[in-house]
Amino acid sequence: MADEADLGVDVDPADSVVRPGADDLERAAEAALRPRHLDEFVGQKVVREQLSLVLQAALGRGRAPDHVLLSGPPGLGKTTLAMIIAAELGTSLRVTSGPAIQHAGDLAAILSSLEENEVLFIDEIHRLARPAEELLYVAMEDFRVDVVVGKGAGASAIPLALPPFTVVGATTRAGLLPAPLRDRFGFTGHLDFYADDELERVLVRSAGLLGVPLAHEAAAEIASRSRGTPRIANRLLRRVRDWAQVRGDGTLSLDAARAALEVYEVDRRGLDRLDRSVLTALCTRFGGGPVGLTTLAVAVGEEPETVETVAEPFLVREGLIGRTPRGRVATPEAWAHLGLSAPVPTDTLFG
Ligand SMILES: Nc1ncnc2c1ncn2[C@@H]1O[C@H](COP(=O)(O)OP(=O)(O)OP(=O)(O)O)[C@@H](O)[C@H]1O
Ligand SMILES: [Mg+2]
Repeated sequence: MADEADLGVDVDPADSVVRPGADDLERAAEAALRPRHLDEFVGQKVVREQLSLVLQAALGRGRAPDHVLLSGPPGLGKTTLAMIIAAELGTSLRVTSGPAIQHAGDLAAILSSLEENEVLFIDEIHRLARPAEELLYVAMEDFRVDVVVGKGAGASAIPLALPPFTVVGATTRAGLLPAPLRDRFGFTGHLDFYADDELERVLVRSAGLLGVPLAHEAAAEIASRSRGTPRIANRLLRRVRDWAQVRGDGTLSLDAARAALEVYEVDRRGLDRLDRSVLTALCTRFGGGPVGLTTLAVAVGEEPETVETVAEPFLVREGLIGRTPRGRVATPEAWAHLGLSAPVPTDTLFG
């Protein structure tokens, strides 16, 4: 499979009416801004240092490094790091994902075609089907796949030795990985949200690559509304660039940044439409909770997984939502942020 990030816009030259979808364009725009080497990767100092040691040691020994697991919320750089790992090792990257592997046989086919020291990137590894997962344990530990030949009672497994390779797994939900799989990774890097000054550095770098003039205060403004997430920072940068081009003089000034972010409904704290609809539903439809994740997701018309991995980690970190054993609750700050008054707790009324 080709390097996913470099696929960019997929247009068949024989068919000139095919238009790239919004997702393709977004992916191409992202690929253009991806750091290629570890020293271009902004922030995540701890993970960067740990990974750098793992890679340098492996290079020194001339052997494939231990398997690497990268976990953390969407858009923080897991795919980027997987590509960097292959680049730093000077080897090629094979890309697949949990949901793309329907049967254990699909994974066996990928594994048995791996070349020596290749990096196999398995995105959303928590979504691998159980039989594929079991096949992966053995491959990761013993560098072997058992190829099943025949059917029913006559079927037999022929062990096939694999060359040394490195699995890089990425997951937004490390908690869902079964322990035996988690244990087979020699190194786990947990990516956390970025500080505003780190996002500013991401933005300055991206503006340089895009060739647009970005004022220092504009970078700070965009960074503070990017929810600690480089992907969002880059996306907002592109929207501010659009605004500056169409309504301004092309300069990404503080005023341009504020006006553009207003148009795109990104509020002062960086909450977007989904975040606000989750908070609003929690406060106005469920009286501030507690309410279960599934119910909350239905109320905003999203998948529970989207609410849990995309909106919630940031809302929890911002102290707007609390998680309790009985469900999600809105904090006093959530009510204040929405400009609503929190209901008076009944125990103060009657007790
Ligand atoms: N540390 C960083 N420095 C500079 N740019 C970064 C960094 N981390 C991420 N980015 C940018 O953010 C974008 C999103 O990163 P990436 O695709 O690696 O996230 P992800 O963790 O794989 O997300 P998902 O869970 O949705 O797959 C990339 O295109 C890259 O340009
Ligand atoms: Mg990714």
